[in-house]
Amino acid sequence: GTVVLAYSGGLDTSCILVWLKEQGYDVITFLANIGQDEDFEAARKKAESLGAKKVFIEDLRAEFVEDFIWPAVQANAVYEDRYLLGTAVARPCIARRQVEIARSEGAQFVSHGATGKGNDQIRFELTCYALYPEVKAPWSMDANLMHIRWVALSHAPGDLYLMTKNPEDSPNVPDVLELEFRNGVPVKVTNVKEGKSKDSPLDIFSYLNEIGGKHGVGRIDIVENRFIGMKSRGIYETPGGTILLQAHLDMETFTVDKEVRRIKQGLGIKFSELVYNGFWYSPECDFVRFCIAKSQEKVEGKVQLSVFKGQVYILGRESPKSLYNEELVSMDVQGDYNPCDASGFIRINAVRLREHHRLQGFSGSD
Ligand code: ARG
Ligand code: SIN
Repeated sequence: GTVVLAYSGGLDTSCILVWLKEQGYDVITFLANIGQDEDFEAARKKAESLGAKKVFIEDLRAEFVEDFIWPAVQANAVYEDRYLLGTAVARPCIARRQVEIARSEGAQFVSHGATGKGNDQIRFELTCYALYPEVKAPWSMDANLMHIRWVALSHAPGDLYLMTKNPEDSPNVPDVLELEFRNGVPVKVTNVKEGKSKDSPLDIFSYLNEIGGKHGVGRIDIVENRFIGMKSRGIYETPGGTILLQAHLDMETFTVDKEVRRIKQGLGIKFSELVYNGFWYSPECDFVRFCIAKSQEKVEGKVQLSVFKGQVYILGRESPKSLYNEELVSMDVQGDYNPCDASGFIRINAVRLREHHRLQGFSGSD
């Protein structure tokens, strides 16, 4: 049989390649470029020298941003209040292409190098089954072929970080950006002082990574709960994603109806769990994404922000779809609002609170 192996060029997937060949498979390797720092040609040579029958190296960066990162931006996707899901959103993107290759090459099998104890295995395999139901998987479960990359370090050494500068050493002058949104996704970023702008999804995201990285934005050190239950410690750098989350939250609150936003916030949490657990391609995730996309129709306008010493500071915003009505909130203009109505509104809300107090049997002084 023929197997398409998601190959990284590293030790573990190289061992798997050799092992699969020893088991009698024809091995096609597939290396996805999703923006990692990698010598792709060296990986190609290595795969060929280890006996890969065919080598695919695919630049998936643009589709990764548009099809996977953008929906996460619309959702304000954050797992357990902190993790921006950088790995979780990449897995369905990689597996989708892997399955396309398996189909077009007539391969019955797919394989990957993710540990059998983690989330990534689940994400790869669920995506493969969802998009290529007949597929078989000679998952290399031999522990010798795997290694777990996240070890329980004590405090992270400073040289561990690859994308971000230490905020202590970052520039003493902020970068000021203007981010323009349409349908809840960025369509343009402008560096206000430099007058420079980017407007393709990949360019926008790469530029936000550059600026966020320069100012040390988006470093976290957390313990999270894996899908299978065990806790795992991780250190993440998500500079561009962190800027986008702050800007998007601002534009969303500015333009979306209060009650719609509240429901959508719950859907965003649901979306994050589904993506974390590997259910990107599921009926429930389709449904949640559909609703979230609907909530984003009016998320349109410009947010100005400054990026400085590990932080994102929102400076202001404007929108043709703004729900902010200066007259309505003004203390000087009465408008369509009658202050006497407020007294009744407050008294009615107090009915329940008074009952609560009475039933607790307090005498009144506390
Ligand atoms: N803990 C994160 C997640 O589950 C990151 C995993 C990174 N993957 C890895 N194989 N080290 O999404
Ligand atoms: C993995 O999914 O392979 C590792 C997950 C983790 O870092 O907890």
